[in-house]
Amino acid sequence: MVDVMAEEGQRREKKNAGHRAADLVEDGAILGLGTGSTVEYFLEKLGTRIHDGLEVAGVPTSYGTQIRARQLGIPLTTLDDHPCLDLAVDGADQVDPVMHLIKGRGGALTREKCVMAAADRVLVVINSAKLSPQLDVEVPVEVIPFSAVTAARALQDLGGDPTLRCGIRKDGPVVTDNGNLILDCDFGTITDPVTLEASVERIPGVVCAGLFTGFGEKTRVVVGEKSGTRLLPL
Ligand code: 5RP
Repeated sequence: MVDVMAEEGQRREKKNAGHRAADLVEDGAILGLGTGSTVEYFLEKLGTRIHDGLEVAGVPTSYGTQIRARQLGIPLTTLDDHPCLDLAVDGADQVDPVMHLIKGRGGALTREKCVMAAADRVLVVINSAKLSPQLDVEVPVEVIPFSAVTAARALQDLGGDPTLRCGIRKDGPVVTDNGNLILDCDFGTITDPVTLEASVERIPGVVCAGLFTGFGEKTRVVVGEKSGTRLLPL
């Protein structure tokens, strides 16, 4: 049964995190614009600040974010025009104490990883339940359709249990903005995320693993709470 109170609390935390991140954006910044419901709150507040005179431009990580940013009057650019970004703001599905992330429930993981790699600094916006002592939620893996079956077997060989992501309002598999498929892979508790990310991304046909272990040093996390936010590391 859906816990309405819990969902409302989670929404409030996401809103607090997204809005705080928008408050931290500096005038003139070239931004990476992540994807997801927490980023949606960030975009909303960023749009208000732009309306009030803030000058920024952003590289969207998905068609969803691109459409929403346009609606909100957020100027857009591309990685071709701005290969170095000042700040990427994005959500996550889980965050461990050293800022390793699991990302990709929204299916935008590949562009999100490209944008994070291009950014000097990263702000991850989450609700408090996503902080975890270890990573143990499913890892999305984007694969080219040609290799989906062989990649699934290789993920099993790495100890994973992959499931082809299928649509909710569409029959059949979800197709990403890049024309690929997603295997959601359960690895149980991940003891060595760095090695696992590298091993998954070595599988032929894998485009991107939803494990993001390389950005910890430039990452700060905005944790939304019921009545405010916390910035990590402190
Ligand atoms: C999309 C993502 C999202 O940022 C992540 O799934 C978190 O989403 P939400 O803020 O809706 O919980 O990685 O690919």
